[in-house]
Amino acid sequence: MKRTFGLVLLGVALAATAVTAADAPQDIVDQRVAAMKQMGGKVNEAFQLSGTDATGSRAKLAEAIALAEAIPSHFPAGTADGDPGVKTRALPKIWSDSAGFKTAADGLVSALKAVDAKLAAKDPAVEAAFNDARKACGTCHETYRGPNK
Ligand code: HEC
Repeated sequence: MKRTFGLVLLGVALAATAVTAADAPQDIVDQRVAAMKQMGGKVNEAFQLSGTDATGSRAKLAEAIALAEAIPSHFPAGTADGDPGVKTRALPKIWSDSAGFKTAADGLVSALKAVDAKLAAKDPAVEAAFNDARKACGTCHETYRGPNK
């Protein structure tokens, strides 16, 4: 268990390094905004399908979960609001409280997995589970995302 967790952290660190080495800070910001939009789109598509096509819905959710798991890797140092050369809503708190930010990202992953479990079980509470997932978006945004630029 401990070893697995270490490997996951290493994976995130390597991903972050790869992004930093290849791209200018604003490109990293643009990529993560695009990833956020894509993730929101997948959750919406999953929601639309959830009443009629559980399998299709779960496929969209799997894509959303993969995007949610990658959130921390999209925030390397040097890409905060106030850093030179970046226009971003990412508050410096993401880096000063990186454990809290990771917890918020994990919270979304868990909430999306809970939706998936409800879909797999054909549980009618799936709509409530979608609402919980949307709340998990808001929980992070309230603390770590600044006003629109
Ligand atoms: C762990 C924190 C976190 C979670 C969870 C999270 N977001 Fe975000 N999101 C951010 C941050 C930080 C930004 C600002 C990125 C930037 O400007 O560099 C952002 C930006 C966005 C944007 C880009 C638009 C804008 O200008 O802010 C969209 C769309 C978005 N998020 C949707 C979502 C949706 C939908 C969910 C849930 C399915 C979600 N986010 C979950 C942290 C999060």
